[in-house]
Amino acid sequence: MLKNPETEQKIDALLAKMTLREKIGQLNQLGGSPVGGFGVTKEEAEGLYQAGNITKEQYDAICQGGTADANEDAVRRGEVGAFLSVQGREYTNRLQRIAVEESRLGIPLLFGLDVIHGHRTVFPSPIAEACTWNTDTFEESAHIAAREAREDGINWTFTPMLDIARDPRWGRIVESPGEDTYFATRYAVAKIKGFQGEDMSTSDRICACAKHFVAYGQGEGGRDYNTVDMSEAKLREVYLPPFEAAIEAGVGTIMPAFNDLSGIPCTSNKWLLDTYLRGEHHFEGFCISDAHAVKQVRFAGTARDEADAAVQSVSAGCDMDMGCEHYIHHLEGAVANGILSEEVINEAVRRVLRVKFALGLFEHPYVETPREPSVLSAPHRAAARDAARRSVVLLKNDGILPLSQKTNILVVGYFADRGDEMLGSWVISGQGEDSVTLLDALNSRGVDYTFVPCVGADMTVDFNLLDNALAAAEESIVLAMVGEKRDNVGEACSKGHLDLEGEQSEMLAHIHASGKSLVTLLFNGRPMTIGQEAEISNAVVETWQLGVEAGNATLDVLFGDYNPSGRLTVTFPRHVGQCPTYYNHPKIGRPYSALSKWTSKYIDDETAPLYPFGYGLSYTTYTYENLVLRVEDDILAVSVDVTNTGSVPGEETVQIYTQCRYGLRVRPVKELKGWDKVFLYAGETKTVTVRIARKTLGYYDAQCNFITEPNTYFVWAAHDSSSGVQGEIAF
Ligand code: BGC
Repeated sequence: MLKNPETEQKIDALLAKMTLREKIGQLNQLGGSPVGGFGVTKEEAEGLYQAGNITKEQYDAICQGGTADANEDAVRRGEVGAFLSVQGREYTNRLQRIAVEESRLGIPLLFGLDVIHGHRTVFPSPIAEACTWNTDTFEESAHIAAREAREDGINWTFTPMLDIARDPRWGRIVESPGEDTYFATRYAVAKIKGFQGEDMSTSDRICACAKHFVAYGQGEGGRDYNTVDMSEAKLREVYLPPFEAAIEAGVGTIMPAFNDLSGIPCTSNKWLLDTYLRGEHHFEGFCISDAHAVKQVRFAGTARDEADAAVQSVSAGCDMDMGCEHYIHHLEGAVANGILSEEVINEAVRRVLRVKFALGLFEHPYVETPREPSVLSAPHRAAARDAARRSVVLLKNDGILPLSQKTNILVVGYFADRGDEMLGSWVISGQGEDSVTLLDALNSRGVDYTFVPCVGADMTVDFNLLDNALAAAEESIVLAMVGEKRDNVGEACSKGHLDLEGEQSEMLAHIHASGKSLVTLLFNGRPMTIGQEAEISNAVVETWQLGVEAGNATLDVLFGDYNPSGRLTVTFPRHVGQCPTYYNHPKIGRPYSALSKWTSKYIDDETAPLYPFGYGLSYTTYTYENLVLRVEDDILAVSVDVTNTGSVPGEETVQIYTQCRYGLRVRPVKELKGWDKVFLYAGETKTVTVRIARKTLGYYDAQCNFITEPNTYFVWAAHDSSSGVQGEIAF
């Protein structure tokens, strides 16, 4: 899709004029900071320098507060193809002008930024937004982020993250669409459409990047950056399909993951980046290393030195070096020494230029000042609020919710008035003051409440203050907003414990002991082990990290203006020992049985999770009846009658699961294969039909042949992965 004869001719013509150094320049992305898109303190820089992770020049540059001038000279010499985390229309235009007007060949620059869940209008974190199960929302939030980012000089984002995440110890679960492969394929397509549109050269689109390629979420022990070893069949079945969907959707770039895959770092993995990506799947865009990952090939010990790491990576198909400048420093020498063929470099440059042409940068390199800036515009905020309230998952409700406007409430919790926290874990342009907090929303709604500021930033609780307030309060309902700080989830934030941080659980116990009703609002980026806390709460509402409209969206749900429709896309474990935990695990010979010791279980704790994949309550109830399974050529059509049996309207997510009864490799107990969303008035019934292509039911045998032979299937139409009406069909 990126390739077309006219552009290929232009690329060849340009390539013919380029010196080797200029070619390598196109493969060089200069970082905003020496560790990627993040700022580092002098102390951290000292540590990085001592550990050999950054050079003396980089260390000095950080201490002196920047490398702007050096960057500009490098651009002038044609030694830079892209920047990371440089933003702002004025500055990007200035650098672009140097590239276009002062470098010998005038090749425009790419400006890449982690626009992960919104630019200035911050949307819910990916794990939250995934719970909407709404592909229109996925697409719209990406489109809005693209529009705001491009206005700001950015033409490339490092998202969507398509890592299948089944281990909540891993902090980056917050950036993922969750644990399910089929779900992630649908998410991938919607996100790429949203960012790139039909034509990424238009002023409201940017180039996307599917990451982290691949299996990064499978790191041992849930530890970030850790090693991954798995069979190729599992890789093909669980981890690769979202990337295949991204390629089919025309994604411009792909980022190899930090981890090694069965002994070879992804960054220098020729099978992955060349045989599989280009050979099997005809990916036409380019691969960008993760931040400083080329250097890490050496640290992993499969390269002898920096030059070796650079040669291995570019030869494998990692076209651009993010931030460590090993390509620009070593590849010229490698070609001169005959270690590396210039044709490898030519091919990498072709791929990079292809994306620059697709973005229209040769025709329109600069960003114009918009007549009406779109950042934080009313429609963008409205979309953020809608996405946020759809992301909320009601986990427990004994009938206390929805609240009545007249209820007097006591509010506790560090997060209740923290705009910065609401933005979530990966936000670069978002500002805390743009966020509507819970207290802001209560104020603007005119709700009578008292806030007790008894939780400190270190998550300790002033129990005197709390207990006195509880004793004195006339209010009978306490809203407690608890969880984990946004800085404690995300990259480099693996945890060994998934409890509420600090003394927050004890605080909930005090509230419960006071005899007041307790509504627990969870603020977090990963499943937490909240079994006991849920037990003592009258309601538990998973609000995740909802972005700039967090407070409004939360109140929309709490007061019943919006009937919660969010469904989990990750399993909530009861205890850390259950991790990794996911609904679609392979069948086993001795599955769990409460009746027999000699089955797969924990002898000291529960085996079943707290909340299953797909789970979520609403203010109404639904029944499923009359499951009909029909074969229509190569399609399995699943129909079911869904009735709203409660007294308020609601939107149900009808989930279709299958189990392939007999396999050449062990098959999962259940697999999501489709879903539909249906809006139902109280008492209304609708027939929902989901069509599943035979290919979607295929799997890999141990030799990695894709099997789509006829089989027998159990099929469930369900509210979540642990329930549903079941049928069986040969297909
Ligand atoms: C992360 C990537 C990110 C890159 C650039 C890395 O540390 O793993 O997801 O895109 O930094 O900021």
